[in-house]
Amino acid sequence: MLNELHVNQIYRNLLHGQWVESTSGKTIAVRSPVDDSVVGHIQAMTQGEVDQAIADTKVALKTWALRPMSERADILYRAADLLEENADEIARIMAMEIGKTLPSSQNEVIRSAEFIRFTADAGQNIEGETISGDKFPGGSMNKLSIVTASPIGTVLAISPFNYPVNLTVSKVAPALIGGNACIMKPPTQGAISALCLAEMFRQAGLPDGVLNTVTGKSSEIGDYLTTHPGINFINFTGSTKTGRHISGLAGMVPQILELGGKDPAIVLEDADLKKTAQLITVGAYSYSGQRCTAVKRVLAVGSIGDELARYLTLEVEALKSGHPMEEGVTITPLISSEAADYVQGLIDDALAKGAVLLSGNRREGNLLYPTLLDQVTPDMRIAWEEPFGPVLPILRVSSAEEAIRLANESQYGLQASVFTNHIDKAFTIANRLEVGTVQINNKPERGPDHFPFLGVKDSGMGTQGIRYAIEAMTRPKAIVVTIRPELVNPVEDTPVTEGQGESEIS
Ligand code: NAP
Ligand code: G3H
Repeated sequence: MLNELHVNQIYRNLLHGQWVESTSGKTIAVRSPVDDSVVGHIQAMTQGEVDQAIADTKVALKTWALRPMSERADILYRAADLLEENADEIARIMAMEIGKTLPSSQNEVIRSAEFIRFTADAGQNIEGETISGDKFPGGSMNKLSIVTASPIGTVLAISPFNYPVNLTVSKVAPALIGGNACIMKPPTQGAISALCLAEMFRQAGLPDGVLNTVTGKSSEIGDYLTTHPGINFINFTGSTKTGRHISGLAGMVPQILELGGKDPAIVLEDADLKKTAQLITVGAYSYSGQRCTAVKRVLAVGSIGDELARYLTLEVEALKSGHPMEEGVTITPLISSEAADYVQGLIDDALAKGAVLLSGNRREGNLLYPTLLDQVTPDMRIAWEEPFGPVLPILRVSSAEEAIRLANESQYGLQASVFTNHIDKAFTIANRLEVGTVQINNKPERGPDHFPFLGVKDSGMGTQGIRYAIEAMTRPKAIVVTIRPELVNPVEDTPVTEGQGESEIS
C-alpha cells in the first residue's frame, strides 16, 4: 500500500495528488538513531516549490470548503481505515526512524486512526447558532445573527520528531474537517512516517491539492514557510526555542503553539507511594523521556523522600534498555548524539553540585540508561531545564506550599501531577498550579485526545484537543438578518384589527 511513496527509498512530496521529486536535485538522508542505517531520503525542496505547494492549496480550497461536511467526514473515515490497515508497516518505519519501541509506534498509529475518526464525528456534530439581538441591553428583537464556522484557509502544520504521525494528524485532521487546506511540514527525523500518513489521505480520496507536503532543511525553508503570505494559520508543536522564533516572525497570522514542558509530580505524604512510583516511572521514562508530558521532576513533600526514592529506584532498575524492536524494552537510543550530549551535561552538572545518583548514568552512543537523581536542589540545571531524555530528578521539599512555589517558578506550564489520598488537598493544589492540566493521582499525559490540551507560559498558546482544534482553525462567520419591526412584533408595532390576528395564526 505504501509502494507509490518512494522509489528506491527516495521519498517524494505530495503535490496536487502526485508524489513528486524536488527540482533542487538535493535529498536529505534520514538515518536511524538506533544503528545509523539509512531509513530513506527525503526531498530538500526549494523556496519556489514551497510557493507552488501553497498556491496549489488555494485552488483546491475553493471546492473543498464547499464540499458537504458529510463528504469531508467520509474521506476522513476512509483515511482512518487505511491508516489502521497499514499500521504495522508504518510502525516499523517509525520504530527505526525515531527509535520508538515497536508497540509504542503501533499504538501511535492506531491512536491516530482513532483521532481521525473522532474528528470526522466531531465535524458532523458542529452546529452553528442563532443569536437574537434583544439579549443585549438596548438590542432589538428584529436582529438575528446566524453564526456558522468558516474555514480559515491554508493551515501550516509543523510537527516534532517524537510523535511524527500523531502530532501531524492532530493538526491536519481538524484542519481538513473544518474545510481548510493543509501544508504539512513534518520533522526531518520522522518525515517518512508523516509522509506515510499523507499517503493514507491521498488514497482515501482527498481531492488533489487539499493536502500538500513540504520537506527540507528548516534553515532553508523554515522561515520562508512561516512568513509566507499564503499561510493563514500556523499550527506548531516543538521546542519553546523554535516556537518563540516562529511566533516572532508570524505577525498577525493566528497560531497554536504546543511547546516544551517541565511537568512536576507533586507527591504528598498520604499518597500510595508504591503505586505513585510505578506511575511516575512510566510517566518519566516511556519513549526514553522524549515526551512533552514526561514527568520531568518529582517534588517529594515532607518525610516521604527516602521511601519514595526507594520505590522509584526499584522501578527504574527494572526498566529494560535496548533496540526498539526488542520485546519489553522501554529505553532506546535518543534521537541524536547532540540530544544525548545535552542530557549527559545536565546529569554531570547535577552530580558535580552534589546530587545523589540512585541509578543509571551509563551511556553507549545515543543510548542513555535510565538515570535517577536524588537530593536535587534548585541551583542545579536539571531542576529547571527540559532534558527530553531518560533522567528524573527528585527534589525534596518541606511542604505542599514549597512544592507549589517551585512548580510555579518554572518557565514552563504544560501539565502537573498531584499524588494524594485526599481529593480536597488535590483540588486546592491543582487550583494554584500554573499549568494547562493537572492530573490527580496519574502521570501527565495528553490523551484522551478529545480533552483540551494546552500549555501556559513558555509551554505554548492556544488549545488542542479535537473540538478545540476544529474551533481554533475555523472562524465564526456571522450573517445578521434585520427583520422589519412590524413583522417581529405585529401586536405592538402595527395596529391589528379585531379577528385579523386569529385568522393569521390559524
Ligand atoms: P524542534 O526542534 O523545535 O522542531 C519542531 C519542528 O519545527 C520540526 O518539524 C522542525 O523541522 C521545525 N522547525 C525547526 N526550525 C524551524 C523554523 N525556523 N521554521 C519552521 N519550522 C522549523 O522540536 P523537536 O526537537 O522536534 O521536538 C522536541 C520538543 O518539542 C520538546 O521541547 C518537546 O517538549 C516539544 N513538544 C511539545 C509538545 C506539546 O504538545 N507541548 C509535544 C511534543 C513535543 P526540522 O526537523 O526539519 O528541523
Ligand atoms: O510529546 C508530547 C505528546 O503530545 C505527549 O503525548 O502524553 O500521549 O505521550 P502523550
